[in-house]
Amino acid sequence: MNLPDLLEEKLRDKRDYNTIAFKLNDDVLNKYEGKSFYLKTYGCQMNEHDSENIAALLEKLGFKRIDDYQNADLVLLNTCSVRENAHNKAFGMLGRLKHLKEYNPDLIVGLCGCMAQEVGVVNDILNNYKWVNFVFGTHNLYQLPDILDKAISENKQQIEVYSREGDLIENLPVKRANSYKAFVNIIYGCNKFCTYCIVPYTRGRERSRKKEDILKEIDELVRDGYKEVTILGQNVNAYGKDLYDDYFMGELLEDIAKTNIPRVRFMTSHPWDFTDHMIDVIAKYPNIMPSIHLPVQSGSNKVLKLMGRRYTKEEYLELFDKIKEKIPNCMVSTDIIVGFPGEEEEDFLDTLDVVNHCKYDNAFTFIYSEREGTPACKLKDNVKQEVREERLQRLNEIVNKYFLENNKKLEGKILPVLVEGISSKKNMYFGYSDTNKLVNFTSDVEVKPGDIVDVKITNSKTWSLDGEASK
Ligand code: 5AD
Ligand code: SF4
Repeated sequence: MNLPDLLEEKLRDKRDYNTIAFKLNDDVLNKYEGKSFYLKTYGCQMNEHDSENIAALLEKLGFKRIDDYQNADLVLLNTCSVRENAHNKAFGMLGRLKHLKEYNPDLIVGLCGCMAQEVGVVNDILNNYKWVNFVFGTHNLYQLPDILDKAISENKQQIEVYSREGDLIENLPVKRANSYKAFVNIIYGCNKFCTYCIVPYTRGRERSRKKEDILKEIDELVRDGYKEVTILGQNVNAYGKDLYDDYFMGELLEDIAKTNIPRVRFMTSHPWDFTDHMIDVIAKYPNIMPSIHLPVQSGSNKVLKLMGRRYTKEEYLELFDKIKEKIPNCMVSTDIIVGFPGEEEEDFLDTLDVVNHCKYDNAFTFIYSEREGTPACKLKDNVKQEVREERLQRLNEIVNKYFLENNKKLEGKILPVLVEGISSKKNMYFGYSDTNKLVNFTSDVEVKPGDIVDVKITNSKTWSLDGEASK
């Protein structure tokens, strides 16, 4: 048994790590043929991509994926810790599974992902959820086959959570959810330690994958007919800093653009690490999509300082303006937290001021959620819940207004859209533009998922655009 330890999770020393090729233990290959699994993913794209590895590992063991948890032999929850909401959802699901297990004692239940790295969660499972068969942490994903096999064969709860990241594992099998859009990890972990955020503890220190491994994976995707890659990292812009002296995110983006992949996206960017070189590369290559997620979190210098964000409102706006000026038609989206401890009305008005300046094309807005073990927990929290809710509502009204205003400007324009499929509700094709807008459209000629077609925009809404494919 290995249990998480918050103090260890905080450590950031220059330990060397190796890159190791994954190898499946032959004894477990197809051992569980005939059994089924249900996998539920909470949270971000990083988790979604981890689930693509998890699904492939389970299939190697012989399990078959099904969509109905009530009929599965194995249920695995890949969890998220970023806000209390995600926590509550996972525990709610555990409640339903407990009930199911009373009727089906052979059901195997596992929990993994960020919540597995939390000391409080693991203690709760040890004391109150003894029926959960296994738990493994974010650094233990490659051990899933052995942990699960042991949980079943020994019929004893397995908890395997390393607090420290180990070696970087390459060649994990992957079962991609989509056959023309793919996620590719470039860097694991985060060293920023924004004071509200639990991610640096649950995902460990920043570790970049070797550029050769990343480019090889993307070359293979191009060969397999993929049209879009989203390169992933908790803080993608820190790429290379732990590994190279002269090869960073700008250089990597350029090399990825030179592969023949038609579309490249990346997320998430910390403004502090966003270099001029990156901006120049994005502007230069038409296959790097003009769509940047640039979380601001707050517009108040006082709150930004309390959050440990390492930039001021003025520095953020300068970067934003540079991006807009140098990258034609670039869409910028953001994340904003309201109700951070110490946020007063005038701080909130500074956030609105940033929103009014940036007129974002998309924004994910959140009420601050206290995460156990983070430095923000120690701040005096004097913002009342009603005030938080009221600020969120005011903020949402303003961001929504800009979404619609920006979309209106696209009426009559032609956008390239990567087709995803046919929406059953609207009986129209749908897909995403280069600027990441959802477009529903009709077409006289047949189009299929994975095609990139030109669509003339005929109507705009807050969250989507309507159009007609043009020849
Ligand atoms: N409370 C509310 N929102 C948070 N986020 C991260 N941690 C918290 C928290 N404790 C938001 C940030 C981040 C996004 C992924 O989630 O805005 O950018
Ligand atoms: Fe969390 Fe900040 Fe790292 Fe983003 S950059 S994952 S908000 S600590």
